[in-house]
Amino acid sequence: MFCKGSILVAAKRFHGLATVAQGTATRLLCGELAICLVRCDDGRFFAVSDACTHEDDASLSDGWVSGCQIECARHNSIFDLQTGAALSIPAIEPVKTYRTAVDGDDILIEIPNPPGS
Ligand code: FES
Repeated sequence: MFCKGSILVAAKRFHGLATVAQGTATRLLCGELAICLVRCDDGRFFAVSDACTHEDDASLSDGWVSGCQIECARHNSIFDLQTGAALSIPAIEPVKTYRTAVDGDDILIEIPNPPGS
C-alpha cells in the first residue's frame, strides 16, 4: 500500500511544483522516465507518461490542457488525465497514469518501479 492519508509513501518528490499555474503541463524526468505533470483548470494534479501512445517520441507536455484532458500537439489525440484513456484517434491505447499527492508546495508522484531502481 502506497497511500498514508493523502500522502504517497513510496513516491518521488518534486519540490515547489504545487504552485504551477492551472491549465498547464510540465515535463518531469525521473531518471530516464519522462512524466507529464498536469495541473487542471480546477487545480487538481495528474501525472501521466510524457509519451503519446500514437507516436512515443511526441511529448504530451507540449500539448494543451482543457478540463481534465490533454490534447497531443502532434496529431491532436485527446487523453483523459484521470484514466489515461485515449478519447480520440489516431491514438488508441491509453497513456500510463501515476498517482499524485500534494504535500505543501511539493508534488509527490508514485512511481512503482522507477528506471534504474
Ligand atoms: S503523436 Fe500524439 S496523436 Fe499522434
